[in-house]
Order: sequence, then structure tokens, then C-alpha cells
Amino acid sequence: MPRQASTFAGNVDTLYLALWALTLVIMVIVTVALIYFVIKYRRRSPDEIPQQIAGAIKLESGFMVFMFIIFMGIFVFGAKVYFAQYRMPKTALDIHVTGKQWMWKFQHPTGQREINELHLPVGTKVKFTMTTEDVIHSLYFPDLRVKSDVVPGRYSYMWLEATQEGEFKIFCAEYCGTNHSGMGGRLIVMKPTDYQAWLAGNLNNLSPVDAGREKYQALGCASCHGANAEGGRCPTLNGVFASQVQLVGGNSVEADEDYIRESILNPAAKIVAGYPAIMPTYQGQLTEEELLQLVTYIKSLAPAQTDGISTNAPALSNNPSAGAPTLEGQGASNPDAFRANPIGATAPSGGGTSSTPGAGQSNGTGIRPENR
Ligand code: CUA
Repeated sequence: MPRQASTFAGNVDTLYLALWALTLVIMVIVTVALIYFVIKYRRRSPDEIPQQIAGAIKLESGFMVFMFIIFMGIFVFGAKVYFAQYRMPKTALDIHVTGKQWMWKFQHPTGQREINELHLPVGTKVKFTMTTEDVIHSLYFPDLRVKSDVVPGRYSYMWLEATQEGEFKIFCAEYCGTNHSGMGGRLIVMKPTDYQAWLAGNLNNLSPVDAGREKYQALGCASCHGANAEGGRCPTLNGVFASQVQLVGGNSVEADEDYIRESILNPAAKIVAGYPAIMPTYQGQLTEEELLQLVTYIKSLAPAQTDGISTNAPALSNNPSAGAPTLEGQGASNPDAFRANPIGATAPSGGGTSSTPGAGQSNGTGIRPENR
């Protein structure tokens, strides 16, 4: 057994050991009974006819009840361990993870970046927000008994609390190409004070929030969503995260990371009620890391104080001069059309008859990003 270096390790090992012991016990019972019956009920003469048995209600129902209890026990124990791991803590140290053939890139909330190496404080809840730039990978810390697939086009999450200082292995646990076996590294768990000192010694990067704010300005998001994300031509982004967003067509959606991501890459997928579908896609213009920084910036925006109406944005802004296609028409008249492939699709450009107010004036000339 590898070391038990997280709060999950004990339970995961107990569950695993219990399953293993149960399997062993049942295997022994079945094997012994098999051998015993083979000998006891062997055919003694060539013309021997066995006595027919029509059923044994007590034995059969007893067996069913017994198995039911055992399987429910396994289920309850397994579900407990599972929910402990997959329910994210409310407050935790937020680490961003980007998988890439064939390396792990980590970024700390204060901006420090690492590749194939990760420093974490002991006794602290750490939450990972993870994605990949290419194929599916799987981030695996065997000593901490946590593992999660990292899937292109969406975010996955994982959390842990290390209980031991020291150096541990990082693996990729999903075959991802030639160098899959080399895609790993070191996890260094340190005293919280040492971790702070380590952070202080590596101050050369913008925090994800600051980097996201820079991207927000650089991409011209401000021209539609406002310099401070207060809205304007497009919905306000202040306080949008974790809120319910009303969509065209009467549906609503919770603005989580995946929704914000989708709105940047495929704005037409979900159009906010009351706003024209004028935002172009930013597919291909942002790396996964930049996208995650932008999402983190939008997450950091507090609700606006001035108005009580929570109008929420699907999207970031617009830059027709960069040649990005505008999406009025198709998206506005039928947001469902894009749902089937929310991330990958780049919608066809412009045109179509628009039923959305304001969409007409957005034909390229309506929007002038200040920052280009
Ligand atoms: Cu990445 Cu295997």
C-alpha cells in the first residue's frame, strides 16, 4: 500500500480492504462448497438418476436477503467515500490545473506557476479546477488517494487535504499518447509557513484574477460589458457567478464555470433574456489557461450595488474588427440549435433574420472596442 497522506486515505483503504476481504471470504465459501458437493453428489453408477428438487423457498429467500444486506452495505460505505471526495468544500485553496501532452501545469491563486511540480500546504483544504488543452488526462496523487479525469472543453474538480509533509508522486492515469508514462511529477507538501515562504520566493506572475482582468481589457470585453463589468450593451457580469440567469425562451441556467466558459466560446448557445445575440465567439483566441483566468476574473466580480435586478450575462464582449463572426439571427431565434454541441461548435457568421431587438444595429459597425 502507498502511504496514507490525505484525509481520504483511511476510508478509501478501509473500503478497498473490506471489498477485498469480502471477495476472499465468498471465494473460499464457494470453492469449498463446490469441492464438497462434487465429491458428495458424484455419480456412483453409470445409470444413476438424481432425485429432482423443485425448490427451497427458505434457502433462496434467505440468500436474497443476505445478499441484499451485503450489497447495500457496500453501496452505503462506497457512497459515503464518494460524496466526501466529490462534494467540494466551500472554502479552499484554489489551484488551477491544465493538462497538456505531456505535462501538468499548475497555478496558485497568487499567480505562481509550476510545471510537473506542485507545492501545497499540509492540513489545508485544496480544490483543483482542471481542464486540458488537448486530450483526456487524469490527475492522480496515489498517496493521497485522489484521482480525477481532466476533460477537454469543460472543467472538472477535485479536492484534498494532505495530512503528511513530504514528497509524493504525481501521475497521469489516463492513456494520452506516446509519452503518457512520462507525464507526472512531484507533489511537495510543506508546513503552511514554509508554503507561504515558497510563494513569496516565486513572485513573478500575475494572479489568475489579475491576468483575467488584463485579458478582459485586451479582448475588448469592456466595450460591451462595461469597463468594470457593470453592463451596458450586454448584461452586467458583476455577481453573475453562481446566480440564476434567465435565458431567451424562458429557461434559466446557473452561472457556473462551465456556463461562463461556454458563453465565451459559443455565445449563441445560451442567450440571456432581454439582450441581443451580438457577441462573437472567442473560440481559438484563448488558451485554456487564459480562458480559466478570464473565468476566474468573472467569478471574482462582486454583485453590483446599484440595481437590485439580477440581469446576468451569457458572455463576454465583441470584437467584429478582429474578424470574429457575429451571431445575431441564428442564436437569438433558436438557442437550442447550439446546445447539442455547446463547446466545440463555431457558429456560422452573421445573417439570418433577427427577431431580437438591437441585433440589427450590431452588424459589425455597431461596436467599437476601445482597446484594440
Ligand atoms: Cu496525460 Cu496520460
